[in-house]
Amino acid sequence: MRVLVTGGAGFIGSNLVDFLVKKKYKVIVIDNLSSGRVSNLNKSKKKIKLIISDLSKDGSWKKYFKNVDIVYHIAGLGDIVPSVKDPRKYFLANVNATLNVIEACREYNVNKIVYTASSSCYGLAKKIPTSENDKIDIQHPYAFTKYLGEQILLFWSKIYKIKVISLRLFNIYGLRSRTTGAYGAVFGTFLRQKISTKPLTVVGDGKQKRDFLHVDDLVRLFIKCSKIRKTGVYNVGKSEPVSINKIVNIFKSRKINIPKRPGEPKITYANINKIKKVTNWKPKIDIVKGTKELLDNIEMWKYAPLWTPKKIKKANKYWFKYLGK
Ligand SMILES: NC(=O)c1ccc[n+]([C@@H]2O[C@H](COP(=O)([O-])OP(=O)(O)OC[C@H]3O[C@@H](n4cnc5c(N)ncnc54)[C@H](O)[C@@H]3O)[C@@H](O)[C@H]2O)c1
Repeated sequence: MRVLVTGGAGFIGSNLVDFLVKKKYKVIVIDNLSSGRVSNLNKSKKKIKLIISDLSKDGSWKKYFKNVDIVYHIAGLGDIVPSVKDPRKYFLANVNATLNVIEACREYNVNKIVYTASSSCYGLAKKIPTSENDKIDIQHPYAFTKYLGEQILLFWSKIYKIKVISLRLFNIYGLRSRTTGAYGAVFGTFLRQKISTKPLTVVGDGKQKRDFLHVDDLVRLFIKCSKIRKTGVYNVGKSEPVSINKIVNIFKSRKINIPKRPGEPKITYANINKIKKVTNWKPKIDIVKGTKELLDNIEMWKYAPLWTPKKIKKANKYWFKYLGK
């Protein structure tokens, strides 16, 4: 089977690539390395074809869609605050690139695409746990561009009969968690702070809960998605929200509390009944075990940017200016 992974040099993408290579799939990665790193592919890079290209622009990268059985479209820009600072950049990376990818699928008759959408489309969800039919409540350009990407794929699917599996991911964590953002990427931020023996920066009182899913569980689901026969949208999380204070306890580190940000949900909690029903998939990795594994591999966070309270305070200015209501 020939598989194309966009964003394969990033956190989630590289974990998928390692798994596919282990299972002897033929893998092509397209990535522009805007947030990804070639070193994320150290394990697999000799066995894959790595194309460094920007998917938001037309280019010769399209020819690699020839004879591909399935595309995992994982490329995109994450994080909320930078998307408020530069919405155009996010539009290009999350919307234009998605349009270009589905058009390449159409041109080369690729029949199936799995997309990493975002649970941020639910905003401050009214219903907990949140299911796919709950209200869409877009709060910022990141959420908007990820949602637009999904809508383009669903519409193209209807007209051009390409199967689209859109996975609305909640919080994914695991080896190589991205560290470039002070928002959402709790694990990357905490790991980098721990290695520098700095206190962990906890937003508000730390009682807010997030639905963390280990990336290995997600990768197992990705493989199962290749067997789904119909287009559909699915929520994907562990469905077991955990407070930030609990994560701090597992880290056994000092913490400092930084101001709460308005517009951030108190809890994210995925209702995953739909995806479980169609795939028979079940998340397995316990948060304590998953976090300890990260702590055992902490060396890899040594060179990641360090988010100090001062840096976070500066970035927070945008949050309060544009998102604070
Ligand atoms: N990590 C999470 O918790 C989470 C939650 C919801 C949704 N998602 C979505 O999953 C995807 C992967 O997330 P991640 O955490 O692995 O992020 P990441 O930043 O580690 O990976 C994204 C990859 O896409 C590449 N990329 C970005 N723009 C590109 C472009 N125009 N052309 C080619 N490559 C491009 C980056 O270089 C990077 O390697 C993203 O689309 C994100 O929106 C992630």
